[in-house]
Amino acid sequence: MTAGAAPLVLCQGVGRNYGRGDRQLTALHDVSCSIQAGDRIAISGRSGSGKSTLAHLMAGLDEPTSGVLSWPALGRREELRPGCIGVVFQSPSLLHELTVAENVALPLEIAGAEPSRARERALEALAALDLESLAEQLPDELSGGQSQRVAVARVLATGPPLVIADEPTGQLDHTTAERMLDVLDKTCRALGAALVLTTHDARVTARYDRRWRIADGALETGERS
Ligand SMILES: Nc1ncnc2c1ncn2[C@@H]1O[C@H](COP(=O)(O)OP(=O)(O)O)[C@@H](O)[C@H]1O
Ligand SMILES: [Mg+2]
Repeated sequence: MTAGAAPLVLCQGVGRNYGRGDRQLTALHDVSCSIQAGDRIAISGRSGSGKSTLAHLMAGLDEPTSGVLSWPALGRREELRPGCIGVVFQSPSLLHELTVAENVALPLEIAGAEPSRARERALEALAALDLESLAEQLPDELSGGQSQRVAVARVLATGPPLVIADEPTGQLDHTTAERMLDVLDKTCRALGAALVLTTHDARVTARYDRRWRIADGALETGERS
């Protein structure tokens, strides 16, 4: 971490309420933290503690209802994806009607790449993660672990400086989860990307040196932010 460098993500007193009027639920309360280039952080918390809410906010997929959330080193919320932030979700997020290679190429095409160049980059990313044999398969033909590794290849193809993975192993058995996390770590190292990963699993948290905790919508970093 370089002292004084603009953070990738800056949360200042961020809160997120769901619902309206007197039927409100505070999913996130007064969260302040920052993510710097190259950070590798695991955020652990029980089911319902606010992990997905925070991950989606940091990824620019949702907006806070209080506080200020910004991406000083990356740009405005509308500019973040797919180039600046790669997201891996808990549930399979591949489009069913597209092949694996087409799924991986899609964000590149959305970002303006020529279709032939996007396909080339997609195949390179799949090969880098030993997934090239799956290129012409449809998502419904893949196992859960394969789907998640393809989701990582999709991130690798766009090469963002920040990867946010929201319980990426939540639906995988332990051995498959370890393999998927190896692929995720390898990808982030290759990209020099920061990684923010949420999990409820202590075995996953143990892989990371920096561990933040979230409980009842409150984030405890144990660090000065
Ligand atoms: N779209 C939503 N509408 C209403 N409540 C929600 C919504 N999403 C999440 N919540 C609630 O917010 C709290 C935090 O949820 P979430 O961030 O999904 O937790 P986690 O990912 O840690 O399981 C939970 O009480 C959940 O029920
Ligand atoms: Mg969740």
